[in-house]
Amino acid sequence: MLKKTGIAALAALSLSTGGALAAGLEGEVEDIAFSFEGPFGKFDQIQLQRGLKVYTQVCSACHGMQYVPLRTLGDEGGPQLPTDQVRAYAERWEVYDSEIDDFRTAKPTDHFPGSQLENAPDLSLMAKKRAGFHGPYGTGLAQLFQGTGGAEYIYSLLTGYEEPPECAPEDFPGNYNTAFGAGGYPEECRDDNGHPTVPGSWIAMAQPLWGEDVEFDDGTEAALEQEAEDVASFLMWAAEPKMMARKQAGLTGVIFLTVLSVLLYLTNKRIWAPIKHRKE
Ligand code: HEC
Repeated sequence: MLKKTGIAALAALSLSTGGALAAGLEGEVEDIAFSFEGPFGKFDQIQLQRGLKVYTQVCSACHGMQYVPLRTLGDEGGPQLPTDQVRAYAERWEVYDSEIDDFRTAKPTDHFPGSQLENAPDLSLMAKKRAGFHGPYGTGLAQLFQGTGGAEYIYSLLTGYEEPPECAPEDFPGNYNTAFGAGGYPEECRDDNGHPTVPGSWIAMAQPLWGEDVEFDDGTEAALEQEAEDVASFLMWAAEPKMMARKQAGLTGVIFLTVLSVLLYLTNKRIWAPIKHRKE
């Protein structure tokens, strides 16, 4: 009986990991094999540095990251900039200091500034806020191996701008995006039952990346997909900087419990051996 339930539970778990991408907000999200996914996944330091550049030169014109301290750019496991570069980077920003009631040049101990544009959301936690697929509804196994898809969602959003579909009226406000599901949507693009006939929706953010928007220091070609992947990784790190440490702790726990189980099993066998082998 117990065995049967166990098998059923296992089958249910494994089924849910292979499921199709359940589009997060009714948009299309592409699965990307990011370096930080899986039980052994790690952030790619050089990629995070490229992502930081995209964020700084493009996204920060509108978006802020007010919950991320600038000094963490030097942390191990992150972009890991040398101390002098962290200081130099901090000095690009002006922050409001309530003590002098004025703006001053930022120091590594300050946070990234907040959003410059009122309706542009803060990006500090965006990669955790938006699950591209599986997300909190899954069993957890999918998340272990593929992540929750927050970085994938951001990638898909940045590469998901398209010409508006024919059903849409020409003057419909916003920009058509196949990944964005939470925006405006013209009635004309619904079927008789009210279901959308095209993926995604209309977003207020104009397409921010086109390719060749930045020049990468490591010589990587700044194609649109590359920039999108790099900034998505960077935002994943910003939202979850301790992911690697967390995974490591988890793995240590699993190994410890495995060894403990084996020892307990052997102990159990030994304790009962004289009784089991007793001659009738
Ligand atoms: C010109 C200003 C501007 C720039 C530059 C810009 N954004 Fe946005 N962004 C916006 C606005 C405005 C919204 C809100 C859109 C809405 O809710 O319709 C937004 C929304 C978003 C969202 C949230 C989408 C959601 O699911 O709610 C993400 C993620 C995002 N931007 C990422 C980026 C990234 C990454 C960059 C840099 C590559 C960037 N943005 C550059 C203005 C901008």
